[in-house]
Amino acid sequence: MLRSAVRPMVAASRKSLFSTTAKRDMKILAILYDGGKAADQEPRLLGTTENKLGLAEWLKSQGHEYIVSSDKEGPNSVFQKEIKDAEVLITTPFHPGYLTKDLIESAKNLKLCVTAGVGSDHIDLNAAVEKNIQVLEVTGSNVTSVAEHVVMSILLLVRNFVPAHEMIERGDWKVSEVARNAFDLEGKVVGTIGAGRIGFRVLQRLLPFGPKELLYYDYNPLPDHAAKEVNARRVEDLKEFVSQCDIVTVNTPLHEGTRGLVNADLLKHFKKGAWLVNTARGAICDKDAIAAAVKSGQLNGYAGDVWNVQPAPKDHVWRTMKNPLGGGNGMVPHYSGTTLDAQQRYANGTRTILENYFAGKPQEPANIIVGLGKYESTAYGQRK
Ligand code: NAI
Repeated sequence: MLRSAVRPMVAASRKSLFSTTAKRDMKILAILYDGGKAADQEPRLLGTTENKLGLAEWLKSQGHEYIVSSDKEGPNSVFQKEIKDAEVLITTPFHPGYLTKDLIESAKNLKLCVTAGVGSDHIDLNAAVEKNIQVLEVTGSNVTSVAEHVVMSILLLVRNFVPAHEMIERGDWKVSEVARNAFDLEGKVVGTIGAGRIGFRVLQRLLPFGPKELLYYDYNPLPDHAAKEVNARRVEDLKEFVSQCDIVTVNTPLHEGTRGLVNADLLKHFKKGAWLVNTARGAICDKDAIAAAVKSGQLNGYAGDVWNVQPAPKDHVWRTMKNPLGGGNGMVPHYSGTTLDAQQRYANGTRTILENYFAGKPQEPANIIVGLGKYESTAYGQRK
């Protein structure tokens, strides 16, 4: 039995407002990716349709209907059919169920969207604001995981690791062929576009490498003590910022103000031969402009795990693009924020959000991206 049916944050919209017995028949829809054999063998792959974020037994015991599927495209998909009367939607950025304005219009009972992870751009947040649908993330759940991946990606590009490893697999041994484009991270200028939880952690982890300078570009300045801790200088003009960096890392959410931010025009302002790492969202970088910049050598390399479409089509140019020396590609599937450690954290966090929702308790403020009728986060664009 649930403890209370009164949920202050959504009370007005709940039929059970004055009931003392909790509603037990809530429909909760989760769109996750299929884990297949890996998920059967590895129960810690919680974010899969097989392991259901570890929530199935618990939700059943609470009397709720819990529908889990990976089928998300087209009007006949489980996602688009079941969303029509679901009250809670759980999605992950790794296999995003794109909740468009039209789907939001059709979702008559929807009150709460939970992103199991960080990054809710797959939801039309403006439409959620209009319809009083709350959007919550498990803030911080995988920021260390991503920051580590960023540092790894910077190193593998700067040190020309991928071509060196491929050479070894091929059976070759030509040191000069890989050393001709290998450098040290020490002494380089590294900058992050976005200095929130991940961007700041990247700067923290880069400091011991002895960079020449650490820079950041963000409309929310770092608190003084944080900027001091990582010895980072803020540059307020984006073109000026990129023109000073040997390495740029992108760590902002995707929203109207960041979609296509790194485009052909901005790439002209990068130092020739700079490296770019993007683990934030693929669509922040213009797909074709990036491929052209890598091909010409304007960028010496591009790495990341996020794509403008996920799963990325087989012929996506980012899978195979190379710099003029045959390297410079550090792309992987979207997994930096879904290590087994991270999955445990975002599965736990999802459960806590649901517990709060069922019990009518306030949510952790940092988790609220869209509250009732308004943005609560300042990270999804500068708004009045
Ligand atoms: P956060 O909210 O702590 O920080 C985001 C920062 O970006 C904020 O400081 C904000 O002011 C800044 N920002 C927003 N728009 C900007 C703009 N136009 N120009 C400059 N700065 C801007 O978010 P957190 O936790 O650092 O995550 C950032 C993003 O990383 C997420 O929104 C998500 O898209 C992505 N991410 C990717 C993962 C992966 O597995 N690849 C996992 C987790 C997050």
